[in-house]
Amino acid sequence: MRVSIVGGGYVGLVTGACFSELGHQVTIVEIDPEKIRAINAGSPPIYEEGLEGILKKNAGQNLNAEAGYTSVAEADIVFICVGTPPKPDGSVDLSYIESASSSIGKALQNSEGYCVVVVKSTVPPDTTGTIVRHAVLHASGRTEREIGFAMNPEFLREGRAVADFMKPDRIVIGSSDPRAGHQVERVYDALHAPVIHTKTSAAEMIKYASNAFLATKVSFSNEMGNICKMMGIDVYEVMKGVGLDHRIGPLFLNAGTGFGGSCFPKDVSALVSLAEARGLKPELLQAVLAVNEAQPSRMIEILEKRAGPLDGKQVAVLGLAFKDNTDDIRDSRAIPVIQKLLKIGARISAYDPLAIPQMKKVFPEISYHSTAADALRGADACIVMTEWPEFSRLDREFDLMAHRIIIEGRKILTCKGVEGICW
Ligand code: UGA
Repeated sequence: MRVSIVGGGYVGLVTGACFSELGHQVTIVEIDPEKIRAINAGSPPIYEEGLEGILKKNAGQNLNAEAGYTSVAEADIVFICVGTPPKPDGSVDLSYIESASSSIGKALQNSEGYCVVVVKSTVPPDTTGTIVRHAVLHASGRTEREIGFAMNPEFLREGRAVADFMKPDRIVIGSSDPRAGHQVERVYDALHAPVIHTKTSAAEMIKYASNAFLATKVSFSNEMGNICKMMGIDVYEVMKGVGLDHRIGPLFLNAGTGFGGSCFPKDVSALVSLAEARGLKPELLQAVLAVNEAQPSRMIEILEKRAGPLDGKQVAVLGLAFKDNTDDIRDSRAIPVIQKLLKIGARISAYDPLAIPQMKKVFPEISYHSTAADALRGADACIVMTEWPEFSRLDREFDLMAHRIIIEGRKILTCKGVEGICW
């Protein structure tokens, strides 16, 4: 099929690259000339396992990036993959969705044949059926017999996005009518996964509800962890026992410093603000956010208990990315921890295998090191913020510290003498 992807960011690029790998003819519409150049040269502008191989194989063949919307006029299916950033009050900024929809509509003005416009970005329920539909139909001057509408959420984890795309747990297709839904299903023909067809608003809500539920599992595990620590119980043993119940499942029960990234914090806040705008008080979701916000302060409290006042002391921070296998620091739990440490006058020596260039933009004033050992040298205390597998091998490196005080926010270390945030 001829597929146009509007937005060559994280979701658009992975989606476009994977569709090209499945044999479709894909064009990514992107405004950033640097990204266009990189995609067409077969070199991914972001780090994502497996992406480079796919790009190298397909770029310039059945995968191309360009600035204009000309490909849209020829497309069987157009995916909107633009950003939906949070506004200061937690609600969703839909301005990129609106402008992409109008541009798609203009491009479809003189086209012939049936095309489906699919929203892949995470958007509040009804966005596809109202804002997107109105903008596309208005700008194109065409009817719903000629243009279909659908919402097809992504469930891609950063760092594992290509694998998640190729082996999805499910494919959710919310559509305005069966013809549109069928056209979207066809583009996934090569994948083997259960397909569920819904209304567009239900598909939009499935995405929010999925992320909110996963975030709830994490905050629940953290609350359990905080209680278990006070009672001298190993929360990891507890959640292993809990997760073996097939009604609960073993994943997303790892207690620690909480969830970060570009999705969970943003999506749970958006759901809270959607509920509040309708006069509801979403108490459970508010608690999920509150538990998450409190975990970084707990790290500092434990650190101060062990190391004494931190003013003037050197604290090594291992791990800056919001999780392992990515250079993404958006809403990383390391950010509030570093902020608090700087506020109380600590000196910070930081290390991360991938995320240092990103974190330098946020905290240019702290010192960064190219190995964990260098960051640990002479430190009065150390905190581990990200579950990088390489940290599990650290042991003798901690002997380089002035004092071997190690507080861990993710259960990744295997050496002795470590205190965990929840264990
Ligand atoms: C998340 C969802 O997992 C994807 O399904 C979804 O498509 C994506 O958001 C999105 O909406 O685009 P992602 O943000 O890449 O994916 O990261 P996750 O692997 O889900 O981890 C999120 C955060 O939760 C990380 O900070 C991680 O360290 C933390 N986490 C995860 C825990 O603290 N404990 C756990 O047990 C699991």
